[in-house]
Amino acid sequence: MGNQQLDPSHIMQTATAFWSSKVLLTAVGLELFTILGEQKLSAAQLGKALNLHPRGWYDFFDALVALKFLDREGDGPEGRYKNTVETAAFLNKRSPSYIGGLPEMLNARLFGFWNDLATALKTGEAQSETKRGGKSIFEEVYADAAALGQFLDAMSGLQAANFQMLAEKFDFSRYRTVTDAGGALALLSRLVAARHAHLSFTSFDLPTVRPLAERRIREAGMEGRITAVGGDFFRDQLPKADVVTMGNLLHDWNLEKKKILIAKAYAALPSGGALIAIENVIDDARRENAFGLLMSLNMLIELGDAFDYTGADFRAWCTEAGFVRFENIPLAGSSSAAVAYRR
Ligand SMILES: C[S@@+](CC[C@H](N)C(=O)[O-])C[C@H]1O[C@@H](n2cnc3c(N)ncnc32)[C@H](O)[C@@H]1O
Repeated sequence: MGNQQLDPSHIMQTATAFWSSKVLLTAVGLELFTILGEQKLSAAQLGKALNLHPRGWYDFFDALVALKFLDREGDGPEGRYKNTVETAAFLNKRSPSYIGGLPEMLNARLFGFWNDLATALKTGEAQSETKRGGKSIFEEVYADAAALGQFLDAMSGLQAANFQMLAEKFDFSRYRTVTDAGGALALLSRLVAARHAHLSFTSFDLPTVRPLAERRIREAGMEGRITAVGGDFFRDQLPKADVVTMGNLLHDWNLEKKKILIAKAYAALPSGGALIAIENVIDDARRENAFGLLMSLNMLIELGDAFDYTGADFRAWCTEAGFVRFENIPLAGSSSAAVAYRR
């Protein structure tokens, strides 16, 4: 078999993938999509509005056109750049469906930290702020209410579609109460409550998060259905409920703490109750869910001993805690709901 039958394009596409990633993240970081808003601007107008040197104007904006993150009417100096339908909806800060919080964080923090992946692999240690003697992202962010709101919004952007699908696909009909552990801005509670009128919710998170969750619950007019409770799930018991949900939560912790959280869920549930983990659960053979595997490397970079896991891992830890029956519900993209039932 000669080399002429082999195609190196997959290798080269992945090798250069950070170019396109960094072009998009830089555009978000410069607030290009927000500044452009509803306007159609020439390269010179947009370049000046963003304070950019003329050398990069056409390369940067046309790369965004070719990558389908901008549209352009006309060519050359007469060409006018405008947002695509998607960037107008999701990357313009004035849009209610803005999801740029996560790309902003990827640009400001993780892009640089990932440069130290080899060090993380050799030492097993985090390569985030803590490595440079700084505070962890959590300490930093949790000390500042505005930054905290933004950070939690960024997390929500990742999960909204999953929570919506969980509301559709999981059989909530035989249950009445739900505790969402690490509920952040109570997004899961708000979305599932909107779909299932018979359920009531406790969104449990750290005390600093509670007022932010309460504001979102009030804005949704759901004060009667969702209660935000402040506490520490390593010190306190989880509020009792028929269903305990954990969105992107178990992957934040090492094995010992994962098992503590699973045991707390078990203790909070009645017979027949369900624990639901909503994450990028990795396929059992660890061959296919590339995003879940990369997320786990991201947890190494961010936190060190935290890691993502397979459905088989989840079932083994839950069996050890006393759960007897399991289910896997595919959600958006590479995410799924891993469900464990109490006897
Ligand atoms: C990665 S976020 C996930 C948020 C949300 N469940 C989701 O799926 O997007 C983890 C959440 O756990 C909360 N958390 C961290 N440590 C906690 C603790 N000791 N007790 C209660 N909540 C905690 C954080 O404040 C944060 O809202």
